Amino acid sequence: MESPARTADLGASATAASTGRTARFERPTAPPMLTAMTRCSWSPTGSGTRHRLSYATTDGLYQSVELENHIRRLHRAVGNAVVDDKTLVFGAGSTQLINALVHALSSDADADASPPARVVATVPYYPPYRTQTAMFDGREYRWGGTTAAWADASRNSSDGSRFVEFVTSPNNPGALLRTAVLRGSAVIADHAYYWPHFTHIAAPADEDVMLFTMSKPSGHAGSRLGWALVRDEKVAKRAYEYVQNSIMGASRGTQLRMLGIVKVMVANLHGKDDIFGFEHDVMRSRWRRLSAVVSRSRRISLQRIMPQYCTYFNRVREPSPAYAWVKCERKTTTATRR
Ligand SMILES: Cc1ncc(COP(=O)(O)O)c(C=O)c1O
Repeated sequence: MESPARTADLGASATAASTGRTARFERPTAPPMLTAMTRCSWSPTGSGTRHRLSYATTDGLYQSVELENHIRRLHRAVGNAVVDDKTLVFGAGSTQLINALVHALSSDADADASPPARVVATVPYYPPYRTQTAMFDGREYRWGGTTAAWADASRNSSDGSRFVEFVTSPNNPGALLRTAVLRGSAVIADHAYYWPHFTHIAAPADEDVMLFTMSKPSGHAGSRLGWALVRDEKVAKRAYEYVQNSIMGASRGTQLRMLGIVKVMVANLHGKDDIFGFEHDVMRSRWRRLSAVVSRSRRISLQRIMPQYCTYFNRVREPSPAYAWVKCERKTTTATRR
C-alpha cells in the first residue's frame, strides 16, 4: 500500500466554492490505493459487494467541502463569525486544534534565530492551553503563563519576544466576552461558546485565527469535530498539515454525521424548531434557578451578567451562560497551630 507521505504531493488544488473560501493551498487527496478500495468487490461467500468508509470524502479530500460550506452557512445565518475571507481547518475537536494553531503560529523561517514564542492566556483559562503547550513545547514555543505577567513586557518589549495569546470569548468559566491583552501578540480566539444560546451575539467575530466546535452548539462533544477559521493561508496550511500528520484528517464518519446535523440546524433557524431558541430557553431557566438559590447565600456569589441586545434573536436577551463562576465571599482565615 502506498504511504500517505508519498502520495501527499498528488494533492488536488481545491477550487473556490461559491459559498466561501476553500483552501487554495494544495490539499492532499486521499491516497489512490486507499480510495480505490471503496469500489472493490469482495465475496466471502461468493457474492456481494464490500462497502467501506474511505479515507477520502466525496470531494476526494480528507476534509469535506460540503461540510465546510454548511458550517459557513451556519455562521452567516447566526451572525457570529466572518467566514468569507477565512480557510477552514477541521480537527478532532477544537482541543486538537489548540496545539495545531500554536504550532502554525510559532513556526517561521527565522525560528533558529528567534527565541521560542511564549504561549499565554488570561486566568481563569481552559486548562488544555497550558497542558498541551507544556507537553509539546521546545524550540518553537513555550508555555509563558498568564497574560498579566507579560502585559508590561509586551508594551516595552525590545528582546524580540513573540507571544501567542489565547483569548476565550465568552470565557470558560467566567462567561464574559474578552479581547486580547498583549499588544502585537498572535491571537487564537477561542469562540467555543459564542453561540446565541450561551451569550448575546454583538457582532460577527473577525479575528485572524478563530476556534469553534460542534461540542457546544448541538452538544455533540463525543463526536469530536472542531474547526479553525484562519485568515492567513500559510497559517491554515500549517495547521492543516498538523492534522494530516497526526490523524490523517478529522474522522470521515464524524464529518458525515455533522453534515446532517448542521443541515438540520440551518434549515430550522428562527423557526419553531430553532436549536438556539430551544437551548436558550433551557439555559436561561437554569440560570434563573441557580441565581435564585445563590442569592440567598452570604457565603457565595455568582458572576454578574447583564441582559444584552442579541443580533441573532433581535432583542435583549437574558443571561444563560454555560458555566457559573462561583466566588467565595468569606474572608480567608489563617489556621493557627497551637
Ligand atoms: C473554551 C473551550 N475551548 C475548547 C473546548 C473543547 O472543545 P472540543 O470538545 O471541541 O475539544 C472547550 C470544552 O469544554 C472549552 O471550554
